[in-house]
Amino acid sequence: MTTKFNNFINGNWQESRSGKFFENRNPARWNDDLIGLFPLSTEEDVNEAVESAKKAFEKWRLVPAPKRGDVLKRVGDIMVERKDDIAFEMTREMGKVNAETKGDTQEGIDTAYYAASEGRRLFGLNAPSELPNKMNLSFRMPIGVGGIITPWNFPMAIPTWKIFPALVCGNTVVFKPAQLTPKTATTLVEIIDTAMKDVLGRDYIPGVINIVHGAGSVVGNTLSSHPDISLISFTGSTLIGKKINEVAGRTLKRVSLELGGKNAQIVMDDANQELALDAVLWGAFGTTGQRCTATSRLILHEKIHDEFMDKLIRRVAQLRLGYGNDKGVDVGPCVSEAQRNTVHEYVQIGQNEDKAVRVIGGDYAKDGELSNGWFYKPTVFVEVTRNMRIAREEIFGPVLSVLKASSLEDAIDILNDTPYGLSSSIFTQDVNKAFVAIRDIKAGITYINGATIGAEAHMPFGGVKETGNGHREGGWTVYDFFTEWKAVYIDYSGHLQRAQIDNY
Ligand code: UN1
Repeated sequence: MTTKFNNFINGNWQESRSGKFFENRNPARWNDDLIGLFPLSTEEDVNEAVESAKKAFEKWRLVPAPKRGDVLKRVGDIMVERKDDIAFEMTREMGKVNAETKGDTQEGIDTAYYAASEGRRLFGLNAPSELPNKMNLSFRMPIGVGGIITPWNFPMAIPTWKIFPALVCGNTVVFKPAQLTPKTATTLVEIIDTAMKDVLGRDYIPGVINIVHGAGSVVGNTLSSHPDISLISFTGSTLIGKKINEVAGRTLKRVSLELGGKNAQIVMDDANQELALDAVLWGAFGTTGQRCTATSRLILHEKIHDEFMDKLIRRVAQLRLGYGNDKGVDVGPCVSEAQRNTVHEYVQIGQNEDKAVRVIGGDYAKDGELSNGWFYKPTVFVEVTRNMRIAREEIFGPVLSVLKASSLEDAIDILNDTPYGLSSSIFTQDVNKAFVAIRDIKAGITYINGATIGAEAHMPFGGVKETGNGHREGGWTVYDFFTEWKAVYIDYSGHLQRAQIDNY
């Protein structure tokens, strides 16, 4: 019997009004492993969830922030207990290898403990008054109901980046996860609800967290246009991010967008090449290249280009593809057939339109058991130049474009020449070059002698240009998004004091 999963609305696990479901399958074992059926929800389901979150907000905002933090502490503890199980199921659901799904879960745990401690900070600011016997304070206030719309590549970490800060700040949530990873999302909501019950006991508030599964065009769109949603936090493609921002702008929602990337790793002629090699393999082919922070361009100093490429191709040829829960596997499948098709289309573009030179990969991987999943051979193009489509457009798959640079300035100029600006990296042993790179690279994240992937949960995460709209997730910065300021003036003089008038 196939397991049917439900939405979670107002404290109840319930079916969608549509009575319809969609399938969730293992991308490495497509025909043999149906994980479950998830509800294809309607606009009415979303409305009901928003209504419940709106009602819950009036109670949740009054729970002392340290207590809200205690709920997140309990969430973190449960995630620690269930880490192995969460990771196994996540690999089954979206394909990346088990070490990485453990890392994804750990990022959620780190975010939970950070949020838990923020419950005892959420610092306001005070300032002197310009009048005597008067005090000025300012507080961070919760905002209302947040619509949280998340992608499939980090099914645990990314939802936690958004939901945990939202909750500890006193907001309530309607969560719409990607259709490709509904199981991990469901587990997360179960854990949050268990923690709420454990910590709040008889004071449990239904509706603080809700999950509504289904299509972006229905669930995501209803959230983005709903008058009772105050916040939208979205991670996904630039195309969809722009649509959400347009729709949400009509009701003046606060919108945080974390969008595409075309991240590059520069390797200078003085670099430690073995280190740079390890990094590019990890950055380009980890998560099968399906990270917004993935290394999709490698910019090599011309002096070391040929030598570095020889080593790189040898290493790429050794990568082992397979089901990510099996031992010894380096690279899992693409998440879906559609994603693999997109990757293959870009490889065709690279060959036929861009006329770059493919040195390895370039096709589906179909040997033996691989034929049962959406596997794609790790692919590398050389002779890529900056105007080619494979040098500019986000591919989101195991495809690396290699460009040549003649100097540090040239390398940085090439790196900056895309519509995006999320992550970046440079390998050099010259401290002066490293500092110039930090100053001149236009990206939200720059690594010195590190891969473009692997941001830590307590640091600002986000990018410039078409990567986003200026907000940052992670660390202390996300708390600016999930709160708004209230200024408070307390006059204890006993008479009317007119600012700007009585004192000048
Ligand atoms: C993403 O790809 O959307 O920095 C997030 C990293 C991870 C998060 C990636 N910690 O690669």
